[in-house]
Amino acid sequence: MNLTFTEEQEMMRKMVRDFAEAEIAPFIENMENGEFPREILRKLGELGLMGIPIPESYGGSAMDFTSYIIAIHELSKVSATIGVILSVHTSVGTNPIVYFGSEEQKQKYVPKLASGEYLGAFCLTEPSAGSDAASLKTRAVRDGDAYVLNGSKVFITNGGEADVYIVFATTDPKLGTKGIAAFIVEKNTPGLLIGKDEKKMGLHGSRTVQLTFDNMRVPAANLLGKEGEGFKIAMANLDAGRIGIAAQALGIAEAALEAATAYAKDRRQFGKSIAAQQGIAFKLADMATSVEAAKLLVYRAANLRSSGRKCGMEASMAKLFATRTAVEVTTEAIQVFGGYGYTKEYPVERYFRDAKVTEIYEGTSEIQRIVISKHL
Ligand code: CAA
Repeated sequence: MNLTFTEEQEMMRKMVRDFAEAEIAPFIENMENGEFPREILRKLGELGLMGIPIPESYGGSAMDFTSYIIAIHELSKVSATIGVILSVHTSVGTNPIVYFGSEEQKQKYVPKLASGEYLGAFCLTEPSAGSDAASLKTRAVRDGDAYVLNGSKVFITNGGEADVYIVFATTDPKLGTKGIAAFIVEKNTPGLLIGKDEKKMGLHGSRTVQLTFDNMRVPAANLLGKEGEGFKIAMANLDAGRIGIAAQALGIAEAALEAATAYAKDRRQFGKSIAAQQGIAFKLADMATSVEAAKLLVYRAANLRSSGRKCGMEASMAKLFATRTAVEVTTEAIQVFGGYGYTKEYPVERYFRDAKVTEIYEGTSEIQRIVISKHL
């Protein structure tokens, strides 16, 4: 396994890091106040970052998957909100069309998604179908040259902002996973109703909404793959999606480690820096070790994906470990900061709030263990 990055990948890291510091950091307060970062997404599009792993023939930057993961990692160090918006847009909002779409669907949607003109979203979860995704109830009934969809979805990242939604619905509930179909739904489709905005613990600049489909007519031409292939499409794209979320968690954890280390060197108590005191020094050593281990798992999974190899188990391992690391390291970072860490004067309380959901979305930690143990 190659543990070094190519020159091109290092250039990507530097470009994203510079962009995040210059353009995203000054906008963090706006996002914390609930402002959606439209302008930042426009600039990400200009830099080719809204379609990093998408083929050039469909308007993407045609870079390898590892470069995409580097971008999510570096963006999330500054803003986990931007990290999740980009991850959902690319891994599960655009890639299902790239991998499973017809040539016509690819030509129609992918260049706009890859350039950032369109934003993507992924609609699998329902009020009573979360971890058990196959129990979804949204119905799709064929009616002439269209399907009529009725049902509702929850926790839709980018919902209300997205231009294209990948929607999962069952054409025959008796068939279980084999009855699920995937559809490309455009935002202005009559019957697509944007519901409540969730008020979340963290990721305040990212929108998370409920959706209702009320006799929503979707052209049959927008069926992705074939009827019955929807569950496979969801799962296959979540494999890569989970590496993106793992990279987001890694970015949060690394940011918290760096903040805690800098603060511990600066803060003096009992006549010396707290970093020179074993209670804090050992804490930082443990945090750094976990971050390093998470990094190896994330880039190992990314490397497998880049080279076209199977990565389902490794993606789940990376997500399980990196997200737990993010929660643990951000918790400890607050402890290092003491009372200051509990205030909004320092960023560690934001890292802590942003970290928790990484253990929940794109498959909870318990679901990652199911996936890993099935492979065993
Ligand atoms: N790739 C391709 N096909 C796959 C697959 C994969 N990774 N995983 C499963 N499949 C196929 C199986 O091969 C099987 O097909 P066959 O019957 O032909 O063999 C079929 O799918 C059903 O598989 P399972 O029997 O394993 O299905 P299950 O009902 O037991 O569910 C599960 C498996 C892993 C628990 C799945 O339900 C799951 O991942 N749940 C979590 C849901 C989730 O991650 N939701 C995330 C929502 S998106 C999100 O969060 C975005 C965001 O906002 C950030």
